[in-house]
Formats: sequence, structure tokens, C-alpha cells
Amino acid sequence: MTVLVFLGPPGSGKGTQAKMLAEELKIAHISLGDVLREEVRAGSDIGQKAKACMDQGRLVPDELTIELTRKRLSQPDAKAGIIVDGFPRSLAQAEAFDKMTAELDLSVKVIYFELNEDQIVARLSGRRSCRACGAVYHVDFKAPKLAGKCDLCGGELYQRSDDQESAIRTRFEVYAKETRPLIDRYSAAGKLVKLSAAGAINDVFEKLKVHGTSKD
Ligand code: AP5
Repeated sequence: MTVLVFLGPPGSGKGTQAKMLAEELKIAHISLGDVLREEVRAGSDIGQKAKACMDQGRLVPDELTIELTRKRLSQPDAKAGIIVDGFPRSLAQAEAFDKMTAELDLSVKVIYFELNEDQIVARLSGRRSCRACGAVYHVDFKAPKLAGKCDLCGGELYQRSDDQESAIRTRFEVYAKETRPLIDRYSAAGKLVKLSAAGAINDVFEKLKVHGTSKD
């Protein structure tokens, strides 16, 4: 079965679309960012190791994300297809990912979310997330019905610490240096499809569904 990898700059809409596509296709979904934020919230060993990196917009150590991904892909439901949002993000992660997917007999298709920097900044600066259930909103593009409250559970909406200006700058730099080279790597392997992530959420989703369900 196919692992769909969502690759792209911070704020390009990977998490929003991953949740929608997983629901549509009734398949599993893992967001490394969400898993790590949950570990931080719980104060676990992993969370304590990850927190400072995440706050500053740097990558957390490869061995942590590789292990978390390996565990998730090894669960039986991944055999029916799974979306992996936010992994791999470095060459070392990509090499480990090639190995684990080969061992688990999973094929890989990478969807690259393309978006220009002005649109990314507009999306990140207006993002709000629910403290209780993690649902993601935007003050302009996906506003909650009641300002500051989650539509789904009534939880408080907050701005992520890494959506502050200095952390956003670091995340862009890290993306350019560590993650962007993976585009050429997967393109050369014939595993990459490009998706224009510009446009309204539902319009992007219509385009994504074509890639998410096709065999190419
Ligand atoms: P993570 O949470 O994965 O951050 P990211 O990759 O920077 O991605 P984002 O969550 O910022 O954006 P997104 O593309 O999911 O956009 P979203 O859908 O929210 O990772 C956080 C941190 O964890 C990393 O910095 C790192 O420290 C660590 N980490 C994670 N994975 C790691 C790894 N593999 N290795 C090492 N460290 C790792 O959308 C953004 C906003 O735009 C929202 O408000 C949304 O409502 C809005 N929006 C979405 N689509 C549209 C649209 N089409 N039009 C208008 N608005 C839209």
C-alpha cells in the first residue's frame, strides 16, 4: 500500500489538507509536529528533548522523529495506506524512511506543496490552534464561529510559539537548507508530484484528491 508523504514549507497547508484527505480516504494520518507537541504537553522525555528546538524553529534530533515514524508505520492500519505529514525533513530522515518503507513493503508517493513566501507568512501569522483538541483555524481564512473558541470542542485558541517572527525566520532557513533538497531527491526517484497550494482550502483539496487517489 502507499504512504503519502506531505512535503513543503512551513504553513503551506500540509496539516489542514492531511486531516481532510485522511478523513475522505478513511486512512490513518500522522503529523510529526502534532505528535511532538503532544509529547511536550505531556512533559515526556521526548517532549523535554524536543521543546527548545521546536520553540526556536529548529529540527528536533533525527533519531526521535525516525523512531516515532517507524513505530507508527509498523502499526497494522498503516498497511491500508497512511498519510505522513512533516517527515522526512532531512537527508538522514529520508535515508531512514527509504529503509523502513522497504522493510515494511510500503510504496511511497510524495506530494510537494508549493506556495510563495508572502502567502506562507499570511497563513502562519493568522494561524490559531485549539489547546484542547489541536484543531487548526485562521483568523481570516478559516475563522472560528466564536472568536478565540474552538468550533469542535469549545477549547481556547492560541498562537503557536513557533509562529512568532524570529522562529518563522529560523523555520524558513531550516526548510531551505535541510528539507528543500529532498524535492530533487524524490523527483529524481520518480516519486514526487507537485501541488499548487495556493487558493482556498477547498480548492486545494479538490486538486489534492486527484493526486491522493491516483496510482501515478
Ligand atoms: P510542524 O507542526 O509540522 O510545522 P511545519 O512543517 O512548519 O508546518 P506547519 O504546521 O507550520 O504548517 P502546515 O503546512 O501544516 O500548515 P497548516 O495546515 O497548519 O512542525 C513543528 C516543529 O516540530 C518543527 O519546526 C520542528 O521543530 C518539529 N518537527 C516536526 N517534524 C519534524 C521532523 N520530521 N524532524 C525534525 N523536527 C520536526 O496551515 C497554516 C495556516 O494556514 C492555518 O491557519 C490554516 O488554517 C491556514 N490555511 C491552510 N490552508 C490554507 C489555504 N488553502 N488558504 C488559506 N489558509 C490556509
